[in-house]
Parts: sequence; structure tokens; C-alpha cells
Amino acid sequence: MRRDDLPRVGDLIAMNQMFPLSMLEPMALPYLAGETHAHRWIVFDVNGVDGVAYYAPEPMTEGTWNMLMICVDLCRHGRGIGTRLMCHAEEELQKEPARILLVETSGLPEFGRTREFYAMLGYDREAQIREYYAAGEDKVIFRKALA
Ligand SMILES: CC(C)(COP(=O)(O)OP(=O)(O)OC[C@H]1O[C@@H](n2cnc3c(N)ncnc32)[C@H](O)[C@@H]1OP(=O)(O)O)[C@@H](O)C(=O)NCCC(=O)NCCS
Repeated sequence: MRRDDLPRVGDLIAMNQMFPLSMLEPMALPYLAGETHAHRWIVFDVNGVDGVAYYAPEPMTEGTWNMLMICVDLCRHGRGIGTRLMCHAEEELQKEPARILLVETSGLPEFGRTREFYAMLGYDREAQIREYYAAGEDKVIFRKALA
């Protein structure tokens, strides 16, 4: 991801209701300024940016990383872009001392397709924290070993 991509990345985050846009610059600017080599932002860009992913190492672990955010243009869901982003992140992590990639999502029924997405990519449903996000909304944690 380059600094020029930031407005479009903001659009993708907003249209998918990922998190408040005010959080984007504090999260992304250190990466764009080259101040952190640990956190990674990647975009899917073929004739324009249509997907973005953000991942980082988990503090106090040896080689455990977390896919903190991934989203694709709403008009282009289901066309393989999310898969390409996940596979690229995994390939890059295999060059690191990285062992495990985690992804976390909601347990609500409306996130069923998101959970299917991770299962399809070989992630195991590893843990569930009841009512983590809100009363009645669990967090589901998926795990993949990066062989
Ligand atoms: C989840 C997401 C990143 C997947 O990327 P994608 O490019 O749509 O997915 P792909 O085309 O690579 O893979 C398709 C598979 O993903 C799953 N999927 C999840 N959400 C989907 C959606 N909204 N539309 C289509 N497929 C979706 C399905 O299992 C689908 O397989 P199927 O076609 O056999 O049903 C994307 O749909 C998205 O941005 N969703 C909204 C944001 C989100 O939920 N992010 C994850 C937060 S934890």
C-alpha cells in the first residue's frame, strides 16, 4: 500500500463498515512512513485498488501474526480478491520467522460467509470468546499454521 492509496482504502473500509475512519491514519501512517516494519498493509490493485488487508505480529509471541483487517470492494465480493490477499500475506509471512496466522471475526449469523471464507482457506476454528464484541456477540478465532 502507498500513501496515494489511502483515500480509496478509506472508501473500502467505510463501505464494509470495518471501523471508524478516524482510526485509519493512526493505524496506517507509521507503516507508510516506514516507521514500522512489523505491521503490514497490502492492497489488491489491478486497474484500481479493490481490496486491502492489514496484519501484524502478536506482541509477546514467537512468530504468531494476526490478520487484523481485510475487506474487498462491495461490488467485487466473491471474485477471488480476498483469497488473493490472504494467500499473498501467507506467502510473505513464510519468508519471516512466522509460524501461525490468526484471524478473528464475529460469531453472529450475518458473518457466516466470512467464517466460511476462512474455513475455505484452510483456517481451523480454534477458539470462541463468548460475548466478546458485545452482549450476544462472540468472537471466533481461526488459526492456520504457516508451514
Ligand atoms: C470476507 C471477504 C474479505 C472475502 O473476500 P472475497 O473477495 O469476497 O472472497 P473470495 O472471492 O476470495 O472467496 C469467496 C468465498 O468467500 C466467502 N465470502 C464471504 N463473504 C462473502 C461475500 N460477501 N460475497 C461472496 N463471498 C463471500 C464465501 O465462502 C465465498 O465462497 P463461495 O463463493 O463458494 O460462496 C469480503 O467478502 C469482504 O470484504 N467482506 C466484508 C468485510 C469482512 O467481512 N471482512 C472480514 C472481517 S473479519
